[in-house]
Amino acid sequence: METILFYFSPTHTGQKTARAIARGLGFETKEVDVTLPQQRKAFMAAVPAIPENAVVLLESPVYGGHLNGVARQMLSQLKGNGQPAILLTLYGNRHYDEANKELYDLARTAGFRPVACGSFIGEHSFSDKIATGRPNDKDLAEAEAFGKSIGAKLAGSWSELTAEQIPFNARNDNPSAKAAALPKEAIGPHVDEEKCIGCGSCVQACPMGNLVLNTEKGKAENTHTACLRCRACARVCPVQGIDFVGEEWQKVVQRCFMGFGSPARENVTVL
Ligand SMILES: Cc1cc2nc3c(=O)[nH]c(=O)nc-3n(C[C@H](O)[C@H](O)[C@H](O)COP(=O)(O)O)c2cc1C
Ligand code: SF4
Ligand code: SF4
Repeated sequence: METILFYFSPTHTGQKTARAIARGLGFETKEVDVTLPQQRKAFMAAVPAIPENAVVLLESPVYGGHLNGVARQMLSQLKGNGQPAILLTLYGNRHYDEANKELYDLARTAGFRPVACGSFIGEHSFSDKIATGRPNDKDLAEAEAFGKSIGAKLAGSWSELTAEQIPFNARNDNPSAKAAALPKEAIGPHVDEEKCIGCGSCVQACPMGNLVLNTEKGKAENTHTACLRCRACARVCPVQGIDFVGEEWQKVVQRCFMGFGSPARENVTVL
């Protein structure tokens, strides 16, 4: 058998966890990363066919208690023919809510048979004070052990997960309802031109193509076009030259920290 990982992972917590699961499975592994705009363009131009002997891992971060919309759009392009699918969501210590169930439905609609579901903790995109450093070594060891157990399940005659087995918490909101549009100037992070050294790392890391390098100024520039607030840009900046700022943002982060900064939640796995 072979393992194919499909992931959308702006701050890499999903990528690390998916790789640990693949290590535990122990099959030859291919990766299809659909995080960056150019990766998604290549993916859409030639959506990979899934070999009969493959086990696929479908990964998305949890955003607002649902699958991330970009991940959902990419993963729903895949077509299975009864191959086993490992469902993986990453969440920042608040809750996975409806995301696992959405991934389960997506996998089944695409023609896969869900063999296992894991919802793992990743450091929260908004703040390095929430689920700090996760997935940590313990999380990755758990992910690897989970992969090993999935391998053992696949080696026998196995039955696919039922909807009732999927970890779920109802939100009763509509994920496809349009959020109130932000004024253009409020989209995206602030570039501190005093600090920015024009290295371009944030531009390379942005999953939405929202940042460009202004070559005249030698500084990063926020185009205010589309932003997930994933803070991949802030995390890669070597001089802390880009981030969300202002009182409103600080209030959001503080609310998150007070609401679910502790206790540390556990990873959830179902086989
Ligand atoms: C806009 C946004 C919404 C989020 N919503 C949730 C949420 O509802 N519950 C939660 O626990 N974490 C939430 N998170 C945190 C991410 O799910 C978490 O940090 C995850 O590990 C990110 O995955 P990645 O590192 O693969 O990008 C949210 C993050 C962002 C940017
Ligand atoms: S500009 Fe927005 S979408 Fe792009 S990396 Fe920064 S926070 Fe993420
Ligand atoms: S990563 Fe930081 S220093 Fe580099 S271009 Fe972006 S804001 Fe400037």
